[in-house]
Amino acid sequence: MALGPLTRRIAYLEEGDIAILSRESAEILNEKGETVERRIQIAELSGAIVGKGNYKHFMEKEIHEQPATVGETLNGLVDAGTRGVVLPALPFDLATVDRVTLVACGTSYYAAMVAKYWIESLAQVPVELDIASEFRYRNGPVLPGSLAMFVSQSGETVDTLAALRYAKAKGAHTAAVVNVPTSAMAREADVMLRTLAGPEIGVATTKAFTAQLSVLACFATALGRARGLISADREAQITQALMEIPARLAEGLVKLPSLLTPIVEEVAEARDVLYLGRGLSYPLAMEGALKLKEISYIHAEGYAAGEMKHGPIALIDETVPVIALAPEDSWFEKTVSNLQEVAARRGRVIVFTTKRGAEHLRPIAAHVVEMPDIDPLVSPLLYALPVQMLAYYVAVRKGTDVDQPRNLAKSVTVE
Ligand code: G6P
Repeated sequence: MALGPLTRRIAYLEEGDIAILSRESAEILNEKGETVERRIQIAELSGAIVGKGNYKHFMEKEIHEQPATVGETLNGLVDAGTRGVVLPALPFDLATVDRVTLVACGTSYYAAMVAKYWIESLAQVPVELDIASEFRYRNGPVLPGSLAMFVSQSGETVDTLAALRYAKAKGAHTAAVVNVPTSAMAREADVMLRTLAGPEIGVATTKAFTAQLSVLACFATALGRARGLISADREAQITQALMEIPARLAEGLVKLPSLLTPIVEEVAEARDVLYLGRGLSYPLAMEGALKLKEISYIHAEGYAAGEMKHGPIALIDETVPVIALAPEDSWFEKTVSNLQEVAARRGRVIVFTTKRGAEHLRPIAAHVVEMPDIDPLVSPLLYALPVQMLAYYVAVRKGTDVDQPRNLAKSVTVE
């Protein structure tokens, strides 16, 4: 992307290559010192050239692009006629996959965490989930013939790449869910599952996350189908629910700004913020806390709502906003009872839920935000939006450098 303003013709070096540059030419030597040719590719238009349009920050623009980027990504994976999922050709038989290892960093890790819930419930395949920097050094088992998946916007994060190489060396099939099709992970994995989020410039990822969720939901559905656990009708129902997401996101983008205003005021004044969720909303709670930390520098923690009584409940008083993600799903009632525990300790409950969910929660919550109705299975794709927008508005209010937060990098190529 940095080269975007200068050229679109790019040759990628391979591992061990050296390039000798002069004013007139570039000669590439491989690791044995032999002169080699590396194909010149035409790079896609960089977002840095496209610019911010009418938005104040790239992050704001990227949040608003999500109806389009989720739609694009799904269009590439769902057959509009049959409503079935169509994955790219795989070098292994999906029906034989009986174990999945999922590895990633940062926000991509939370997308992988949602995927664990989807894959285990839809396909009944056990999923091992790990942070790449832990996975790569603990010398854990990766069974030959099992599937190892790596989730990364950039496809270059050094820990995730090392984890991919480790799994490959152990004889696993490797799949990379990446946004940059020319990245190292895209080139090295057996199969690339591409997110079509387009170039992402804001350091804190937004649209790449919802695109990752789109790909991973389709993958989990295809796996369930291949293993005979999902009928064609159920598959059509799931893809239908996914295809409705862009419209619901567009609705959220219009309605949320005014609904969030009083919450932004309150969160911006806080020193600590707690995010809670259960089931599919638990990874979202972690993502919400990460987004807030990253760009507003407010300390935040994401917790499984049911685990709160084992520690964080001790932090609760009227100065700690407790933000709950509570779509009306099979975990909803349990979440409500956890929030009652918060309210009983004078905690300030801020909750994102459905219209009907709001009726239960109004008596105990300081703020209730009604979200559009959707199939609870795909709720992470919609509930990502308010956590991103809240973090964004709080950061703007605090005057931080939203697109380039201090100490953070877009692509982390050091350990
Ligand atoms: C950095 C970025 C995060 C991102 C993480 C993983 O920390 O600031 O937004 O989630 O890297 O990056 P990846 O490109 O592997 O998804």
